[in-house]
Amino acid sequence: TLPSKVRIFEVGARDGLQNEKQMVPAGIKVELIERLVDAGVKAIETGSFVSPKWVPQMADTAEVMEKISRRDDVTYAVLTPNMKGYEGAVASGADEIEIFSAASEKFNQRNINCSIAESLERFAPVTEAAKAAGIPYRASVSCALGSPFDEEITPEAVADVSKKLYDMGAYEVSIADTIGVGTPIRTKKVIEAVANVIPLEVIGVHFHDTYGQALANYLAALEMGISKLDSSVAGLGGCPYAPGATGNVATEDVVYMLDGMGIDSGIDLKKLVTTAWFISDFLDRAPVSSVARALKGK
Ligand code: HMG
Ligand code: MG
Repeated sequence: TLPSKVRIFEVGARDGLQNEKQMVPAGIKVELIERLVDAGVKAIETGSFVSPKWVPQMADTAEVMEKISRRDDVTYAVLTPNMKGYEGAVASGADEIEIFSAASEKFNQRNINCSIAESLERFAPVTEAAKAAGIPYRASVSCALGSPFDEEITPEAVADVSKKLYDMGAYEVSIADTIGVGTPIRTKKVIEAVANVIPLEVIGVHFHDTYGQALANYLAALEMGISKLDSSVAGLGGCPYAPGATGNVATEDVVYMLDGMGIDSGIDLKKLVTTAWFISDFLDRAPVSSVARALKGK
């Protein structure tokens, strides 16, 4: 059954921008985040505390966190790969953090320079510290619907990592289609496998739209009762360590679909579209989102 209400987790300022070659000044990131919040976004990833050598675009996350005007009813989250990232997150006053692993060994190795098992070991002290400090954390599983490295990803492999992350105390496990290759039946099979080992209510979805399948896959997930959706304004995004990965599904496209289905996201489409054009104009290109283009100036 379809949920009547969903929680959109906006990842535009992190996943959306992390792959941009052109450095986006902190002031633009701050304005982007504040505009998204003004449009009704209640959970937002503002950046990541990862190695600036690995992802230079995110090097100013502390500055962004310091400069945004925060609202009490909004969750400001950051991505953290290890204890050093966790310490940065805490110092910045992040409301919550995201830890991340993968269903693909090859991807995990390239993305965070360690095996899946090692990544879980590395995250253990992070989760212990977060628990002690009362900071909620969610977890994401990359390559859940396919890998960029010519290998088969089984639903069982996704379920296995998901369970381990859930057992480490993650309040949500986000099933990520890093390179946007999934299709609806595949999506359902993977969610089914994961829902066999952890509660359906804690499963989220984070789909990139490389093959134009993300909305169809979100519908498949919604039909299974999933109500935690990640998306990125203007369809920005991509992972620097996943060859061929393009943007996340655009938040405008998701909100338009939800509005049409009578599912409440709490987000004002008009303000969202204006925000998609704000960041796209800065990046000097049109949003990839069909909805943002169709509703331009309306
Ligand atoms: P490493 O080289 O194995 O780590 O990288 P290290 O511990 O040996 O440290 C190397 C250097 O990085 C040291 O500096 C550390 O201090 C520094 P040096 O001594 O050489 O000057 N360092 C840090 N600096 C700042 N913040 C930190 C930090 N940690 C170490 N937290 C590491 C391992 C994890 C650090 C590296 O591989 C890394 O930063 N990877 C991040 C990759 C990344 O951000 N990928 C994109 C996000 S994930 C994603 O997009 C997928 C997702 O959207 C879901 C999906 O779509 O699939 C979530
Ligand atoms: Mg992603």
